[in-house]
Amino acid sequence: MKFFIDTANLAQIKEAYELGILDGVTTNPTLMAKEGIKGTEAIAAHYKAICEMVDGPVSAEVLGTTYADMVEEGKKLAQIHENIVVKIPMTKDGIKAIKWFTDNGIRTNCTLVFSAGQAILAAKAGATYVSPFIGRIDDSNWDGVQLIEQIVSIYNAQGFMTEVLAASIRTPMHIVRCAEAGADVCTCPLSSILGLLKHPLTDLGLQQFIADAKSLQS
Ligand code: E4P
Repeated sequence: MKFFIDTANLAQIKEAYELGILDGVTTNPTLMAKEGIKGTEAIAAHYKAICEMVDGPVSAEVLGTTYADMVEEGKKLAQIHENIVVKIPMTKDGIKAIKWFTDNGIRTNCTLVFSAGQAILAAKAGATYVSPFIGRIDDSNWDGVQLIEQIVSIYNAQGFMTEVLAASIRTPMHIVRCAEAGADVCTCPLSSILGLLKHPLTDLGLQQFIADAKSLQS
């Protein structure tokens, strides 16, 4: 399973990249707004900076909602850097736009996916990635990971090439369960990635080893 970081924060991207396990980045308008980025030029410059930090796909979301706007905007985003993947919402216009990008050799990430039916449409349109939002599903009292399992099983049965990108990750356990479910990619906040490091027995064991190592030296 590939690891993407789900943030537009350059310091967090650098920290995850330096761990040596980072395969890519996803952003969305909320994450960009959190960094205080405003205006077309600043947005493009920020995506360029991310692409120069990480050698892997960087999802950049369109802001428009009509087919024409998404295609126009996506074309410009794709020109910023070869690693840009155009992120498109799961709507009727979005599916048409994904098909346009597929036909024109531009990679896409279909976002805001909450059902298997939506995931089938995204795959039919040729999306490179489909992003089911598992944390938001859990928040609404359903099981997000179950949707990942269902989409993985449908894509395998049908031979779809679209990669399942588990999004809206909230906890390290989400990452583990997505890996178990066969997700191709997990896009995570830095806190969830770092959370995978933690186990109290590791801390206790290390404390003991450090103490014993000191006694060996004296
Ligand atoms: C990433 O592609 C999604 O936009 C993101 O994971 C959504 O996460 P959230 O539900 O925590 O906002």
